[in-house]
This record gives sequence, C-alpha cells and structure tokens, in this order.
Amino acid sequence: MTRTVTLALHPAFRVAPVRPRTFGAFVEHLGRCVYGGIFEPGHPAADEAGFRTDVLDLTRELGVTSVRYPGGNFVSGYRWEDGVGPVEERPARHDLAWHSTEPNTVGLDEFMAWAERAGVEPMYAVNLGTRGVPEALDVLQYANAPQGIALSDARAAHGHPEPYGIRMWCLGNEMDGPWQTGHKTAEEYARTAAETARAMRQEDPGLELVVCGSSSSQMPTFGTWEATVLAETYDLVDMVSAHAYYAEKDGDQASFLASADDMDHFIDSVVATADHVRAELKAEKRIMVSFDEWNVWYQHRAESRPPEGDDWPVAPVLLEDTYNAMDAVVVGSLLISLLRHSDRVASASLAQLVNVIAPIMTAPGGATWRQTTFHPFALTARHAAGEVLDVRIEAPTFANERFGTSSAADAVATWDETAGNLTLFVVNRDPGRELDLAVDLADFGGLSLVEALTLHHEDPYAANTQDAPDTVTPQSNDTIRVEDGHLAGALPAISWSVVRLHRS
Ligand code: AHR
Repeated sequence: MTRTVTLALHPAFRVAPVRPRTFGAFVEHLGRCVYGGIFEPGHPAADEAGFRTDVLDLTRELGVTSVRYPGGNFVSGYRWEDGVGPVEERPARHDLAWHSTEPNTVGLDEFMAWAERAGVEPMYAVNLGTRGVPEALDVLQYANAPQGIALSDARAAHGHPEPYGIRMWCLGNEMDGPWQTGHKTAEEYARTAAETARAMRQEDPGLELVVCGSSSSQMPTFGTWEATVLAETYDLVDMVSAHAYYAEKDGDQASFLASADDMDHFIDSVVATADHVRAELKAEKRIMVSFDEWNVWYQHRAESRPPEGDDWPVAPVLLEDTYNAMDAVVVGSLLISLLRHSDRVASASLAQLVNVIAPIMTAPGGATWRQTTFHPFALTARHAAGEVLDVRIEAPTFANERFGTSSAADAVATWDETAGNLTLFVVNRDPGRELDLAVDLADFGGLSLVEALTLHHEDPYAANTQDAPDTVTPQSNDTIRVEDGHLAGALPAISWSVVRLHRS
C-alpha cells in the first residue's frame, strides 16, 4: 500500500518571521568544550589568542547566531571575576558540577573575543546558585557599563575600553534541578530571580532577561514551577527557559523518532502557563520561550557522568557523544518544532557547540569533523528565511511506546516573498516505511525546484568519525520533482529533507 504524506501550504499561513536567534548554540566550561574545543593554544590552527580557527570556520559554517555561556550546571558555582585580568594571576578552582578543575584561562573577555571572531551574539548566564544580586550586578557592570566606575575601568584596564553591550542574560541555570549547586524551590528561586532582575534592570533597562523554567517536561514540578516563578517575575523578564534532551532508550527507535512530540507539548504547555499568568495579572506583554538547551544526549553512557574521587582533571573527556544518522533525523525534526513555534520561541540554543554533545568535534592537536547532527542544523540555519509558514499535514501514523501514535511525517516551511524562495523542511519519522510526498504549490504561483537534499543512511546507526567524517551527509534526492504545480517524491524511512523552491 502506498503511504502518502500530503502537505497543505499557503503563503497566508504565516506564523512569524524566522528568528535568527532560533539558531543559537551553547559553550559551557565542561569537558573539552572550551579547553581543547574553541581554545587550544599551540594547535597548528590556533590564532594569536589561542582560538582554533578551524573550529571558528565550522562554527560559521554551522550558521550559529548566538552562543550561551559560561554554563550550564557549571555557572551555579562560578565566580566570574576569577576569569578576568592577567591570566597568570587567575586562580584555579574546583568545578563541583563536573568534578573538574577550572583553570580560568578563558573567561568573559576571552569569550567575547571569540564571539566577535565567530560573529555570534553572546547570551550570558549569571550564577544564582551560590551567588545572588551583588555578583550579577558586578558582572553586568563589568560587561556593559561605560568607563568611569570601578568595574568598567577594570575591563578597560584589561584591554577592553568599550562596553560589550550584552543584551541577553539568563538568571541562573536549571534552578529546579536537585543536581544544581544551590538548587531552590520555585518560591525561593522566584524571589531571587525577581530581585536580581529588578536590580539588573535598574542598571540597564534594555536587557533581555531569561528566567529559569523547567529542565525537562518530566520534572515533577513542571508547570507549577513556571506558574510560580512567572507570577513573581512577569513584569521583570522577557523569556522563560526550557531545556530538553532526547535519546534512544533500550532500542526503542519509534519513541525516539517521535521526540519532537514532546518538544511541541513542552512549548505549548509553557506558553499556556505563561498566558495563564498573563491573564491573572491582566498584563499586556507576552512572555516568550528561550529553548536554551536542546539536543540528543545519551545521558546513560559512562562519559556523561562526572569523574569521581580525588582526581579533579582539567578538561576531561565528558559527554562526547558520537551521533548517528537517526540522531541527525531527530535533531532535524526538533528544529522543525522550534521553527513552527517561532511566534513564541524567541531564542534557542543547541547544547552544545564543540566536543560536548556537539555538532563539531576536535582531536587534540589534530583535525575537526562534522557530526551527523551538524548537517540538519547548518542547512536549516542557512535556508530558513522570510516567514515561517504553518503546514497542515495528512500522514499515516506509527505506533510508539512513549506517545501512543505519532504522525509519520512532520514539516514546516519558510516563505521569503521578496526573494521568491519557498523552503520546505520535512521528516519521515516512521522507523520502517518510506513515504510519498505530495504538495500542491498552486498558491505560490509558479515555483521550480532548486535543490532537494535528504539526510538518510540505510544503517540508522552509521556515524561520522575522525577517520570517516563523511559517512552520513545529505545527498541530492533525485526522486523529488515539481510537475504541474505539484511537488512529489519519496522520503525514505528515518530521513530528514530540505526542499528548496524558487519562483520561476
Ligand atoms: O548541557 C549539559 C548540561 O545539561 C548543562 O550543564 C545543564 O544545564 C543541563 O542539565
């Protein structure tokens, strides 16, 4: 039996403009993300500041627009001032979150220098675990105040006279999680976040502040956490965070492939909760979602656990997942979910950027390579343009343990009316069956096919490695064609595709 997915598209089905910040990433002082990732002095490709230019090149190729820094769980014990000033005077400290030693060779000034080279907007997280209002104000003044006060003069003395003008600030990290240093109840955190946000706004009213939401939709406090925190911070913040990691568990491919169903539910629930608080407070503004950690992460693997014992290594190998073709399809489908919610998801960060659950890998002193997950991210960041269009999908379903049944196909489109470009992102999430694609393009006038690329491998566990970095890459899908205003073609089981069309 032919299994067809029919997509209904219209230029008037506008959701919101494509937001560049959807394509953010994350750099945490964790494992080899900073040391041996973005920064490796002495590497043949390192620039005069010690930044790996090969990693910078891949960061730009990935299309990353903003980068969250410096953590993550790390930030909840971090003293930002340890990381500024003469490097030889900076103290080494134990990082409790990842049982590592933080040498503080890289800090705020180095990160900003790297961000400028990478062409990305910084998003800075303050420590609300072991610290509070004074230290958040200090780092804000160090970063953003014009010269003339102690901390901005210190910045100038460190070689950076001009304020950095960092706009996006996270009020702590995953404060709902019992694993977090300084973990708080929703009430405790709401109070701390409100006080911190108020003070930061007194310093600079133009900031965009992100209050901590839930660290997954499975947290026992999910929903009530957001309601409690937003009730106290609504007027003071712009976004509430969401974090989600997915993995194939016990060979259950079908549930894993349907992971975006959880992301859809997560975003819809947070939006509903925020809007409920808005109604209660009779507020005008709407709170947006900052999905500032999302990815596939195999947390059960040994290297995802911090080392134990007396040894506190610098930059150990941690969370270095090798991604396969199926992981890349899931990452592509999560991007479809994020884009579809562009009316309420104002910012997102793939966690993370280099080596640590990352699209970019490095060998110490050696090569870089692109993981499978690099490709759907780079192609979506490059080709999503104009307005996000809602896509109505008629597709068969597939059974899975986690969600019951899920649509075999998911899709989103973007329409750049001025340039005349329609781009379709579509995933076949069915673990076992090919789908025939059918799209009526009549409402867009005449469109012709520019390119159709499909990421798929007959072995869903095939991966890219240092020795075989191009095992899984997007390939031209020659079955996809446009005839008489209709787009048609075949989508293999477990595949992600981008179809680019242009007004003829
Ligand atoms: O990205 C890895 C970790 O996942 C982060 O440090 C933390 O915020 C989350 O639990």
